[in-house]
Amino acid sequence: MYTQSMDLDAKSAAARLSAVGTPGAVSPQQAEFDAKMAADRKVEARDWMPEAYRKTLVRQISQHAHSEIVGMLPEGNWITRAPSLRRKAILLAKVQDEGGHGLYLYAAAETLGTSRDDMIEALHSGKAKYSSIFNYPTPTWADVAAIGWLVDGAAIMNQIPLCRCTYGPYARAMIRICKEESFHQRQGFEAMLTLAQGTPAQKKMAQDALNRWWWPVVMMFGPSDKDSIHSTQTMQWGIKRISNDELRQRFIDATVPQIELLGLTVPDPDCKLDPATGHYSCGEIDWAEFWSVIAGDGPCNRERLETRKRAYANGAWVREAAMAHARKQQAREQAQAA
Ligand SMILES: [Fe+2]
Ligand SMILES: [Fe+2]
Repeated sequence: MYTQSMDLDAKSAAARLSAVGTPGAVSPQQAEFDAKMAADRKVEARDWMPEAYRKTLVRQISQHAHSEIVGMLPEGNWITRAPSLRRKAILLAKVQDEGGHGLYLYAAAETLGTSRDDMIEALHSGKAKYSSIFNYPTPTWADVAAIGWLVDGAAIMNQIPLCRCTYGPYARAMIRICKEESFHQRQGFEAMLTLAQGTPAQKKMAQDALNRWWWPVVMMFGPSDKDSIHSTQTMQWGIKRISNDELRQRFIDATVPQIELLGLTVPDPDCKLDPATGHYSCGEIDWAEFWSVIAGDGPCNRERLETRKRAYANGAWVREAAMAHARKQQAREQAQAA
């Protein structure tokens, strides 16, 4: 439902070329990597890559994987309380999809030489971050609808450009993930529409949820371009293609007409269409709130981390059983081959 990202190839290739320096002044491996960046070709797991590129990808992909699995929690809370069997089946499928996204992404990060155990340990110790949005609570069913519509909608905006990321395993994982996120966004909008067209109490529930989620979702695109420490380098490497502020603007432009269609009110009195540019304006963002949630002081940070750690501990017997089964199977295959 959203347009593909703007074609920035010519511009970004030139920027990347100027950033990587003069050919000849670097090692042959670096020169080959630089040429790949300039031509916007894919880097694969076995290819040589600069350590900083590898580290940046491990950080980004593992944070993305953590966000998927922590993101299962706010909605998972509602599986037993979904208002109908149909809603329950949809929600179950969606939450399961998010678990699958985590799996693809952990696997993509592992191709860079990092282990699953190290990534999980970094999440549990608080060293690794995940998306700030999942530290907000879901007090009503309308919050579940709002998450699908807005959070998955924002995720699509962010992730479609990642389908063209220069690291092949990440780019390929994102293609499938984006298809599923699109289903998530649609089911959320449909659930929101049902509430908005329901009784006055249901419509109010929908508006209240929109009021709760709007600003956290607007912040989800990350700090403003002028304060974003990682953006320039990741753009030069073709990992990030579109800036935080531009993605945020695209999301607002796509979502405000949807809010109008629902008959709801944008919870930002400064959000107005500028007929000259065709863009909606955005009021002042409370960055102090954003940084405090990132630092671990959001409404649900501690609860989310504790739940993840408990789930990991409770799942130890499943991991042990799977490993024992794999060892047994391997021994059987070896015996047959002998
Ligand atoms: Fe996802
Ligand atoms: Fe999703």
